[in-house]
Amino acid sequence: MEYLATTLFFFFALLITNTQSAKPSLLCPSSKPDSSDLSILHIYGGCSPFKARKPEPWSNIVLNMASKDTKRVAYLDSLAARKTSAPIASGQQVLNIGNYLVRAKIGTPAQLMFMVLDTSTDNAWVPCTGCLGCSPNTFFPNSSSTFGPMDCSSAQCTQVYGLISCPTTGYGACRFNQSYGGDSSLLATLSHDSLSFDKDVIPNYAFGCINAVSGNSIPPQGLLGLGRGPLSLTYQSKSLYNGIFSYCLPSFKSYYFSGSLKLGPTGQPRSIKTTPLLQNPHRPSLYYVNLVAVSVGRVQVPIPQQHLTFDPNTGVGTIIDSGTLLTRFVGPAYYAIRDEYRKQVQGPFSSIGVFDTCFPVIHEQVPPTVTLHFEGLDLKLPMENTLIHSSAGNMACLAMAANSVNSVINIIASWQQQNLRVLYDTANSRIGFAREICN
Ligand SMILES: *[C@@H]1O[C@H](CO)[C@@H](O)[C@H](O)[C@H]1NC(C)=O
Ligand SMILES: *[C@@H]1O[C@H](CO)[C@@H](O)[C@H](O)[C@H]1NC(C)=O
Repeated sequence: MEYLATTLFFFFALLITNTQSAKPSLLCPSSKPDSSDLSILHIYGGCSPFKARKPEPWSNIVLNMASKDTKRVAYLDSLAARKTSAPIASGQQVLNIGNYLVRAKIGTPAQLMFMVLDTSTDNAWVPCTGCLGCSPNTFFPNSSSTFGPMDCSSAQCTQVYGLISCPTTGYGACRFNQSYGGDSSLLATLSHDSLSFDKDVIPNYAFGCINAVSGNSIPPQGLLGLGRGPLSLTYQSKSLYNGIFSYCLPSFKSYYFSGSLKLGPTGQPRSIKTTPLLQNPHRPSLYYVNLVAVSVGRVQVPIPQQHLTFDPNTGVGTIIDSGTLLTRFVGPAYYAIRDEYRKQVQGPFSSIGVFDTCFPVIHEQVPPTVTLHFEGLDLKLPMENTLIHSSAGNMACLAMAANSVNSVINIIASWQQQNLRVLYDTANSRIGFAREICN
């Protein structure tokens, strides 16, 4: 165990060299409320208010994130596999912390919050004053002239998971209890206030004002859901942004640097390759796409079609997600990809943590490119999105893994999306990818 930890320490130490020496104050976006831009920060990166006081080695960070992946992947899978359209049983929502933060402003005058961005969740919630068990930097509803709680009879209240109870007649606050991260839960009141980004204001945005939390997994300044359902930012800002957004996720190597979120049709890349966005009526929040094949080098990997072909009834298919770290394929698909990968690089192969295909880096060796063939679009993964390299530069691991045994979905995760602009266009039902160095 200790050997493993030490190995991992050296393994990932590379990721902090040559990045932590830069001056943070010059590189980080300002955190004044009036200067919110749409930068995206690593939750544990140098510009995040949640970074460790003593910068932790990325070894620990990446490992910690990879270990949290398991619960999130299981949650996404349970979402996908559910056959009915019934909402997730109240209080049973198990999610996991996302990896990225966005700076949003809530209220009038605006209060700046660093919220976790989650493309597989719809609703938003922030800790409010007086919240039991929350960290001190909460949102102050009493300081906002536009804040108000929402009534049980409001249309949005019927969309909330984990609704506690509503009176049959008369006024009642719309309160809910949701579980999160496997070991935490939150109690919140559905509320509305102005949500703003840069100069754009979305009035009467519906979100949960958190009154109490238990457990340690609740993001300290809340979460912003970028899913597709009625309570999502995508949906609630439709008149302003037309259901279109894109992001560029910063490289994990860039401790202080940030990526960007672009909301709405303006400023999106003109020439971007796209693939149709699929809709699963049973799971309206998830962004399904049609992954038809995977190639390693010039070889198209033989993956049985039943592990790729989208089926809304079983949930089988491929989703794009920003909150999971490593791309997961269902077992038979992953093993086929990995076996082909191993054929094309020189071993011996070893396992480190969740990585089962680690190999010595030999100077003459150029590892094969992994290409994801989506309907109408081939995404050649840049090398840094395929491999994780060791500090000494003598080992590399394939940065993907098998999903758990009974899983149905493949998840294209954030490691594979670094330095790509990913366009989510619900207006035209498409997802686009373009190479962009975003940090
Ligand atoms: C907000 O204001 C109301 C009405 O004045 C008051 O009852 C309540 O305690 C205040 N809440 C906080 C958290 O200050
Ligand atoms: C949410 O409900 C669960 C189950 O009833 C309970 O254990 C938990 O304490 C509740 N969460 C909060 C924050 O009140």
